[in-house]
Amino acid sequence: MPTTIRRIGVLTGGGDAPGLNAVIRAVVKTAEIEYGWKVVGIEDGFEGLLTPPRIRNLGLEQVRGLLPSGGTLLGSTNKGHFGSKIIDGQHHREPGPFKEAAQNMRRLGLDALVVIGGEGSQGIASEFAKYGMRAVGVPKTIDNDLWGSDRTFGFDTALMVATEAIDRLHTTAASHDRVMVLEVMGRDAGWIALHAGIGGGADVVLIPEIPFRIEAVASKVLAREYQGSKFSIIVVAEGARLLAGDQMFVDDSGRLGGIGHYVAAEVAKRTKKDARVVVLGHLQRGGAPTPYDRVLATRFGCAAVRSLAEGKSGEIVVLKGGEIQTITMAEAASRIKTVPTDDEQIRVARGLGIAFGDENADLFEEEEEAVIEHIEAERPISHGVDDEEETPLHHSNLEGV
Ligand code: F6P
Repeated sequence: MPTTIRRIGVLTGGGDAPGLNAVIRAVVKTAEIEYGWKVVGIEDGFEGLLTPPRIRNLGLEQVRGLLPSGGTLLGSTNKGHFGSKIIDGQHHREPGPFKEAAQNMRRLGLDALVVIGGEGSQGIASEFAKYGMRAVGVPKTIDNDLWGSDRTFGFDTALMVATEAIDRLHTTAASHDRVMVLEVMGRDAGWIALHAGIGGGADVVLIPEIPFRIEAVASKVLAREYQGSKFSIIVVAEGARLLAGDQMFVDDSGRLGGIGHYVAAEVAKRTKKDARVVVLGHLQRGGAPTPYDRVLATRFGCAAVRSLAEGKSGEIVVLKGGEIQTITMAEAASRIKTVPTDDEQIRVARGLGIAFGDENADLFEEEEEAVIEHIEAERPISHGVDDEEETPLHHSNLEGV
């Protein structure tokens, strides 16, 4: 493999995330200013390396003003010719596209690649060495689920959007005494739901790592009603699932979705409260990156170029304990980082009374029924001290709810 670098390629693979352009800018600036290398942008992820190659020269002029912009200048795709088939639990990839990409890289005079992408893209990039191509990776995902990195850029921006959505839902939920369900992204990891739930002050947070019982969710809403809070905010990760069920998908393409509607409908049915659902979707991925994401993206882009200059290949830059380090692409692609169920933030949330739907604290059936009667009759709840007319309810039944 060549160690002298004169010209490198940069590409963005997988779903977009706020901060991709900031990485591209940092790669171009560091390569040109620090090392005098030329940079070529490859369009539409790895697909741009196939024949005929889709490339554009990127110099200081082309990346001017790019730092705050969302999306990716180069385009991206999470489908294409480099994907794998799982056979007997192992990833198998067709060699054809890799050989073609390697040949085109040589023709274009590209000595190495910077691959900005999630674990899928890093899995593809990790195979490049077999075909004589040098590559280093920059992790990207709003889901914050990349194994080996404390943070990925895009996550902070997604959190900001989700937290603001919760703030907005609070005021309308309180005005109408409603249950508002917010479905957020995150695939199989609950980081966005957990952080936004804490940051926005949700009452219930449902994440894939903690399968939930719908009875416990309804119970939490009824308990709040009993305690005088006539609205509730439920944040549900798209990958959350019932204890006795599977994740929900919008169709058979494997795209997660539907759990928010399920939760809203079931809670409305079980509590007789008005419930509405908001699916935040791609709003979490669009728009300008936050300052945190711009800084992290810039550090990653710069570190990736420096790693190439140090002769590294097959590695990915990560954030560990506040420092930028590298791990192998194969390791980064080997698994995802989910929320540990004993995570300090889960414990913080539980301490604040946020329910995760796994609590064993349902109200006694009669008490639940009494609260529901009050909801249906739109009567205020009496706690049975002075008012003989009202159904008395007892706080003791609500301990730990
Ligand atoms: O991985 C990022 C992510 O936004 C997930 O949170 C979400 O499940 C998925 O991508 C959506 O992908 P698409 O862009 O294909 O709708």
